[in-house]
Amino acid sequence: MNSMLDLNLTNKCLKLSVLQLQVEVFNEIDSTNLEAKRRITKGIEQDLLIVSSRQTTGRGRNNRTWFSPEGGLYFSLVLRPRLGPQFAPLSSLLCACAVAEGVQSLGIENIVLKWPNDVLVLEDKISGILNELVTITPVDNWVILGIGINQNISVSEFPEDISYNATSVKEILGKHTSPELLLCSVLNSIDRLLGVVESEKSFSTVLKQWREMSGTLGRKVRIDDGTQTIIGIASELLDDGSLAVITEDGTVNVTIGDVTHLRSD
Ligand code: BTN
Repeated sequence: MNSMLDLNLTNKCLKLSVLQLQVEVFNEIDSTNLEAKRRITKGIEQDLLIVSSRQTTGRGRNNRTWFSPEGGLYFSLVLRPRLGPQFAPLSSLLCACAVAEGVQSLGIENIVLKWPNDVLVLEDKISGILNELVTITPVDNWVILGIGINQNISVSEFPEDISYNATSVKEILGKHTSPELLLCSVLNSIDRLLGVVESEKSFSTVLKQWREMSGTLGRKVRIDDGTQTIIGIASELLDDGSLAVITEDGTVNVTIGDVTHLRSD
């Protein structure tokens, strides 16, 4: 279980006040989210972070795979849901804000968030988030926040059949950056935002930050939820994390789905 990631370095820059992390690092694993589920099933007592240098079956949203070669940053954070069941979808938005801050701290500009939880640089995806709620009993729940960031990967390495335009930190900055520092920076941001949520007993600051970084609001979008497709203007992020879309048939509140940003002509 030794790994490419230097835990001492990560620990040095972590400034956590809310999370009480047990950390596990792997060189290779099937999926950090799957490992998180196995650990929850076995029984865990505190917040848990699982990091791996690569994943053999990295998982994306809607049963897609997540390209996970060495060089990317792949981790899952396991937490108790804060403020009740609404924590699960809203925590995706929280993670997207934290990833945006982390990537920005490396010197990357033009970061925009695509609803619900993609992090883009201009139009290209640099990070994806797969959040899952595991319910053991009605009062025993855990949230898995699974985050993948295309860090030290070249875009030419990506498979051709990938459904979105991918970019990476290395592609944009033209150099290798430290996975320890990026991990640290994202975790510090998650911790800070969780602190705000806990003290305000609300996600309003997170929602405000997401709205400010959104590339979706005001955009013409196509949304596919697996059974139907709608096209309209994304007008508002509602307080429950859903997206209001103005279509020809009226306003629709969308709670799940894949968004494509369209040109407005
Ligand atoms: C998406 O945009 O479809 C979500 C991608 C989420 C990928 C991360 S990588 C770490 C964690 N483990 C997984 O198998 N998936 C998530």
